Amino acid sequence: MSDDNKKSENEINSNCVVAVPNPLGIPAYLSSVYDKIYIKGRLAKYLDTDRFANISTFGQYEKIKQSVLQEVKEMQNILWIGNAWGNLMREIAQGIGLQGSFDVVEAAPRQTARLKEKLKDCSNSKVMLDDIEFYYPKKSRKRVKYDLVIAYFLLHEMPDRKKKRVIESLISLTTRSGKIMFVDYDKPAKSNLLKYPVIWANRIIEPFAESLMTDGLEKFVPEPEKYIWEKVNFLDGLYQRTTIKRKR
Ligand SMILES: C[S@@+](CC[C@H](N)C(=O)[O-])C[C@H]1O[C@@H](n2cnc3c(N)ncnc32)[C@H](O)[C@@H]1O
Repeated sequence: MSDDNKKSENEINSNCVVAVPNPLGIPAYLSSVYDKIYIKGRLAKYLDTDRFANISTFGQYEKIKQSVLQEVKEMQNILWIGNAWGNLMREIAQGIGLQGSFDVVEAAPRQTARLKEKLKDCSNSKVMLDDIEFYYPKKSRKRVKYDLVIAYFLLHEMPDRKKKRVIESLISLTTRSGKIMFVDYDKPAKSNLLKYPVIWANRIIEPFAESLMTDGLEKFVPEPEKYIWEKVNFLDGLYQRTTIKRKR
């Protein structure tokens, strides 16, 4: 990353946005596939609404949102990765109350600016500019860990090897009794009429999504048998909200 880019990222600093210099810069898959949406283009401004979140999930947004909110409790320390369309993140920040904390890690500078605006009146929230794979928070020399870590429609945007490394990072950021939540594509049944149209459309617009729909999330979690899995499906298996928690 050039010195100029580093400088402009650090200028994002404000009360609730902490720019953590990321030596590797913006992940390559974001620049190559999502450049117009997250990095340079102005599309995000129009897409970041509940209405678009609902359209992009075939009308499932409200159901998915309620299912995420069911896991949110007062006073929790929550880590969320990446800006998500719509109002859900604000509802989570409000749901944990002032004694909870809502930390958001986002790799694209423009998206951190959006998040800053979205969460500007949530004093329990903090936005950090970093690639989640390399995020390593510390407080008074001790590593910070979270009660709940949420990867909301995040994994399908990254190549498979990155999916694995990011999941390892999420696991290391969760307390022993904590949970990791994945909201993303799932393996729809053959009879699901949306299965093939979505796979074909994604080959053009979301090229890293297919492996979640064919191989499943389990393939990317190291030692999956060590976790208690809880899965909720939406739209006949097109989407999932899955939580994993370490077995005792
Ligand atoms: C959380 S996903 C959700 C977007 C999705 N289309 C939705 O339904 O809301 C997208 C965000 O994740 C961010 N992101 C992708 N890879 C990341 C990474 N490795 N670390 C941090 N943020 C990342 C992107 O820059 C983008 O702003």
